[in-house]
Amino acid sequence: MDSVTRHDDYAQGALTEDDLDPDPFVQFARWLGDAEAAQLPSPNAMVLTTTGETGPTSRTVLLKDLVDGRFEFVTNGRSRKGRALAADARVSLLFPWYGLERQVLVDGIATAAPAELSDRYWAGRPRGSQLAAWASDQSQPIPSRGALEERMREVEERFLGTAAVPRPPHWGAWLVQPSRVEFWQGRPSRLHDRLVFSRRDAGWRIERLQP
Ligand SMILES: Cc1cc2nc3c(=O)[nH]c(=O)nc-3n(C[C@H](O)[C@H](O)[C@H](O)COP(=O)(O)O)c2cc1C
Repeated sequence: MDSVTRHDDYAQGALTEDDLDPDPFVQFARWLGDAEAAQLPSPNAMVLTTTGETGPTSRTVLLKDLVDGRFEFVTNGRSRKGRALAADARVSLLFPWYGLERQVLVDGIATAAPAELSDRYWAGRPRGSQLAAWASDQSQPIPSRGALEERMREVEERFLGTAAVPRPPHWGAWLVQPSRVEFWQGRPSRLHDRLVFSRRDAGWRIERLQP
């Protein structure tokens, strides 16, 4: 297996204290912009790790927005992750921007967003996705693909005359308020740059970590 012996050197960039914006959210927005400009696939995809209910478990979700220092995503509250979040609000987010030899790691607390915010995201979803949110009891077993498609047909029929499909009560937005944000930039000879923001009272402490 080539990947075992492969040893890429990371030489695309550097991250110095001088480059770093003192506001971690400004810095994050800058790097997300770089990931978009570099046309990385799904630059807003992040790996969400939850700790509740079953112990640590991860899955990808999409970052919808970053507002007032909170990372926002949407999901089904009755899913495996929804149950995990209800049991323990501590989460981590990982943005894997390998194409730029970068990652951003966020640790924080997830809370359910106010209903108005969930309504706003819901209204912006294509009708097909809205119907699928009703049809799919996310993370529950189903005997076959056919059974899933049958449920979708039932839901389509149910909402046939309804112009605006209502938001299921269990579907909504979650907000992650970070306590720690790490910016990681690969460097030659594994001497990488790691700059970490840790929340301190009203502000942030910035530290460099050894690679
Ligand atoms: C690129 C990508 C984006 C995804 N975005 C979301 C998302 O925004 N919300 C969501 O609930 N699931 C999303 N998923 C599916 C989740 O990874 C996961 O399969 C699903 O939410 C069920 O997870 P759970 O059983 O741990 O609750 C995405 C998957 C991929 C690969």
